[in-house]
Amino acid sequence: MEHDVVRRGRLTGERSGEMMHFLSSMGADRCIADADILVDIAHVLMLSRQKIIEKEPARQLLRALLELYDNGIPEAAFDDRFEDIHAGIETLLIATIGEETGGRLHIGRSRNDEVATCLRLRVREDVTRQLSILIRLREVLLALAEEHMGTLMPGFTHLQHAQPTTLAHHLLAHEAAFTRDFQRLTGALSRVNWCPLGAAAFASTSYPIQREFTADLLGFQGVLENTMDAVASRDFALEVLSNLSIMMAHASRVCEELVIWSSGFAKFVELDDAFCSTSSIMPQKKNPDIAEVMRAKAASVLGSTTASLAIQKALPLSYNRDLQELTPSLWRGIQDAKHSTRLLVDMLSTATFNSAAMADEAQKGYSTATDLADMLVQKHGFAFRTAHTLVGKAIQKGNLDLPTLDLAAQEMGQRLLSMLGITAGDVAAALDVQSSIDRRRAPGSPSAFAVKISLASRREALMEDTHMLEEKMACYSGAIQRLIADARKEAGS
Ligand code: ARG
Repeated sequence: MEHDVVRRGRLTGERSGEMMHFLSSMGADRCIADADILVDIAHVLMLSRQKIIEKEPARQLLRALLELYDNGIPEAAFDDRFEDIHAGIETLLIATIGEETGGRLHIGRSRNDEVATCLRLRVREDVTRQLSILIRLREVLLALAEEHMGTLMPGFTHLQHAQPTTLAHHLLAHEAAFTRDFQRLTGALSRVNWCPLGAAAFASTSYPIQREFTADLLGFQGVLENTMDAVASRDFALEVLSNLSIMMAHASRVCEELVIWSSGFAKFVELDDAFCSTSSIMPQKKNPDIAEVMRAKAASVLGSTTASLAIQKALPLSYNRDLQELTPSLWRGIQDAKHSTRLLVDMLSTATFNSAAMADEAQKGYSTATDLADMLVQKHGFAFRTAHTLVGKAIQKGNLDLPTLDLAAQEMGQRLLSMLGITAGDVAAALDVQSSIDRRRAPGSPSAFAVKISLASRREALMEDTHMLEEKMACYSGAIQRLIADARKEAGS
């Protein structure tokens, strides 16, 4: 195969391997090589329909492209001497079917609209895959929440015991965050799925092209209208990466908790051995390495996002080669997020929660002191601030080693109790952890009453999101199947 066909007319001079490697996007283009074939096929079908090229060259081009679609792109097309996969595939086609025919593929387009279209096609696929992982993650969290509606645990603020809650309530908080991630990514997808094709370099072309036709063939929602914007914008990538960064921040919070909860201090959870490593020197060690690496991956995804935003910032319109350098960050961010969340699903579904240790810890740290203050307000008419002060004082003067607040044992408490006629039983009832949870019945609260209602509505939302995603996926894959079927018909094969 000869040198890059794009370069040969205008430029002379040999370039060093280092130079070619520096300039080539081939590494990152592996992710869009398949998409490039689809884009080429759609473009040829459009050129033929619009009679911009004759039937016979169209047939030959389609045959050659279908051969690549069916049997894969030969390794030669990925050589670093090509600036990118677009040049690689065009050079390959010219070498196989001759320049008279192969040389007609690039009529009325540029690599600028070509690459933007390939990126959007591939990102569309990646985002739908990420959305289905999020569906599974939400499913696992809901199943665990259902199982652990009655599992008491301490709730924390500032990582200090705050008030008791249930594991179900805690897991539903994570589920809510991942549901918003799902919604954000769905929103981003609705802006990804627009077709830049036909923009050519940036000013479109004078051939009588049909932009809507190629957009439709590739399953895009429509044409990305302004042709300068079509080639110059990468905010769709930024939006996806930003949403993935937020999602990974959520995943890393779960990981951080799994690390803390699996420690010898807490023993709230036992991770499956497969998700842990041991030490090369300390034979007893079981370390939560997957959770730790995932915590760090959240930083890597954020790094990809930051790099991508910095590349776009202050770029003059329209296309600049800088945009090529964004693509590896895009794939890296997408891959890291995908692998992380897939593993998170399995790490959570195989974890064993230690209900006894959690319930035991829920009793500690004066975690129902608020309930006692509330009782003074509700039953005896205190202003909340007064009740808060009284209970706070009692704790200050009390024996802090006591596992629960025994107000009756305090001197001040005893005076208060006898004045008001509050019995030790009233105090015990206010301080009881299970009753504390049962009393919290407002929507979204930790009581089994409220959690059951939450679970039902979260399941319904999950079902709706699952159907919506299935419809989108069927729509995209249906379009690609029709595109290939049309190409085979036109190619006469
Ligand atoms: N490899 C390039 C990229 O990823 C494709 C577009 C090249 N366009 C150009 N004018 N050199 O952005």
